[in-house]
Amino acid sequence: MPRQSTRAIHGHGHEDEWRAVKPPIYQTAVYEHPDRLTGRSRKSDRGFDLKYSREENPTVRALERILAGLEEGLDSLAFGSGMAAISAAYFSKLRAGSRIIIPKECYGATQELARNLGKFGVECVLARSDTGEFLEKLDGGIALALVEPITNPMVRVVDVEEIARRCGELGIPLVVDNTFSTPILLNPLKRGAWIALHSLTKYLAGHNDVIGGAIIVEDRETLQELWEWRRKLGSILSPFDAFLIIRGISTLEVRFEKQCRSALEIAEYLVDHPKVEEVYYPGLADSPYKRVADKIFRRRLYGAVLSFRVRGGRREALKLFRSLKVIKPAPSLGGVESLLTYPIWSAAKNMDPEQRRELGITENLLRLSIGLEDVEDLKEDLGEALSRI
Ligand SMILES: Cc1ncc(COP(=O)(O)O)c(C=O)c1O
Repeated sequence: MPRQSTRAIHGHGHEDEWRAVKPPIYQTAVYEHPDRLTGRSRKSDRGFDLKYSREENPTVRALERILAGLEEGLDSLAFGSGMAAISAAYFSKLRAGSRIIIPKECYGATQELARNLGKFGVECVLARSDTGEFLEKLDGGIALALVEPITNPMVRVVDVEEIARRCGELGIPLVVDNTFSTPILLNPLKRGAWIALHSLTKYLAGHNDVIGGAIIVEDRETLQELWEWRRKLGSILSPFDAFLIIRGISTLEVRFEKQCRSALEIAEYLVDHPKVEEVYYPGLADSPYKRVADKIFRRRLYGAVLSFRVRGGRREALKLFRSLKVIKPAPSLGGVESLLTYPIWSAAKNMDPEQRRELGITENLLRLSIGLEDVEDLKEDLGEALSRI
């Protein structure tokens, strides 16, 4: 099988009479019935009806084949957003009386949606993101578990392998949200996850210009079930957005490598800075998460998100937040632009003070997503802003 970066470029499997190198944008809502007498539809390459683009679309299929190749899965489904993918996973496994377990530190909307399902009789169990506590809270009655290998905003690394092993013993389907780690660092299906899930909006699309999500599966039954949910929820990705994401993925490896290397350099720079109290990045030699990262990640790379506390409190953090020039204050991550968030206003916005304290989300904490700018410019930008506080 070709290696990962080759699969990222050539794995779309699209062929047509023009022999176009790029899969074209099939901007169509409907496909003609080939058989006007029986109304039988044509089938897509994986045997689903090809009659309506809420169900299947050739450009989206091209992206799905790439994603399946990157994650070494059987197949995949692309959605209009990461949250649409998460919704389909929840719908497929949860019903009244079910319990779902997710980390307290997982993506805000992932957690909110799980809690909101309470009105349909689903119970949401929250666990600390540490591997130990997550393992302790698992039991055979849980219908679904979800983890993020790299947490946000504290950038902890979770031992997905251990969690998947225990979920396997207990028969719990495990969703691994691989958005921060990407297939470059981790292939969750190879570690025992039920499905791998992505917000494609982040590293995979990579340019802060498109929203998308995906689920990669290992078996036909899950594919069929999630495909049905996507059809009913109406949450398939659009062909144009699929085209943009295909283009983004073709440069994933070079982008991600550079972003990770710059993140390590910036983390080391901040560690030595007198105005910085503490830096959180699993690639730092003394990070408590380096050992588990080295165990579960395929490469000696540690992602491109880091967090740090400035000396002082809210006033100093916001001063820095407002005085950066190259780095933009904006949510999201994984794109070419470096972005800074103030977790109290973003990831932890809906958390009560007790939960924030427990997770270490203080008023002087900032989160940085490293983009593709020259790392010296990023350091200078941070240095100048820090000198002002
Ligand atoms: C880890 C993670 N999962 C899922 C999502 C949701 O993805 P989207 O914004 O594409 O719906 C996000 C968004 O920030 C995320 O960070």
